Amino acid sequence: MTDAAIIDGKVHADRLREKVAAEVRRLKDGRGLTPALAVVLVGDDPASHVYVKAKGKQTVAAGMESIEHRLPADTSEAHLLALIDTLNGDPAVHGILVQLPLPGHIDEGAVIAAVDPAKDVDGFHPVNVGRLWSGDARALVPCTPYGCLLMLKETLGDLGGRRALVLGRSNIVGKPMAALLLGESCTVTIAHSRTADLAQRCREADILVAAVGRPRLVPGDWVKPGATVIDVGINRIEAPEKGPGKTRIVGDVDFATAVTVAGAITPVPGGVGPMTICCLLRNTVVAACRQAGLADPDL
Ligand code: GUN
Repeated sequence: MTDAAIIDGKVHADRLREKVAAEVRRLKDGRGLTPALAVVLVGDDPASHVYVKAKGKQTVAAGMESIEHRLPADTSEAHLLALIDTLNGDPAVHGILVQLPLPGHIDEGAVIAAVDPAKDVDGFHPVNVGRLWSGDARALVPCTPYGCLLMLKETLGDLGGRRALVLGRSNIVGKPMAALLLGESCTVTIAHSRTADLAQRCREADILVAAVGRPRLVPGDWVKPGATVIDVGINRIEAPEKGPGKTRIVGDVDFATAVTVAGAITPVPGGVGPMTICCLLRNTVVAACRQAGLADPDL
């Protein structure tokens, strides 16, 4: 059997990034509108600092304004809520993202609910969650699953009628991914750590999206021949073959065996990852257009 086609996230991300940048140029030149994204980071989590830096850099590279608020780990919830209130009321800010996780003393749900749904470019606010599940086009949609959906549609075309299995039930990826696939008329199953006959459920799927954070959980013999596999996992494992103390990143799917069975598959790294920030830029432009009373851009 021939190996699967590789779904190259960098290619998809470059394409979307160029479309976003063109839309930003159009808004700036035609309307004098510069979309602006405010990112709030509380505390010292090293991975979060890396992500926030990348978000700021790519926002500026797309021609938008990036505003960063880096707050100490002992910031009070009241202080954070007051900052969000200020950003909500600032007409020059179109998108607000509070980087998660937050320090333990801060109620994440309260913070998410404090963001104006119109500026909620993460798509985590209950209003946007409700809009997504009710098929309301005004939803702002979480970035990682939206990126997965774009890659699936570009790879497969119409998704209607296909059996999709989403492995993972997080609010950030699994649940919104299921809602998006349902919105494309897939027959959707959400599987998780308590799912019976997980291997068999996976083997039934034409589309398999793995987002559980378990390194190489899904071997090739769980994949239906010809299926499209989207691997959202980013797991750091020890890599003694690279030398003592070395590590490497693997997905939730065992790529080496799955690539011989699937029809198309995303690699890790280089698959879903590059699309996520692009979708954040896209959401910021969409939010800016809506706040200016303009039609949604074709992004
Ligand atoms: N932490 C990990 N992923 C995300 C994300 O998509 N948005 C935010 N705000 N925090 C995260």
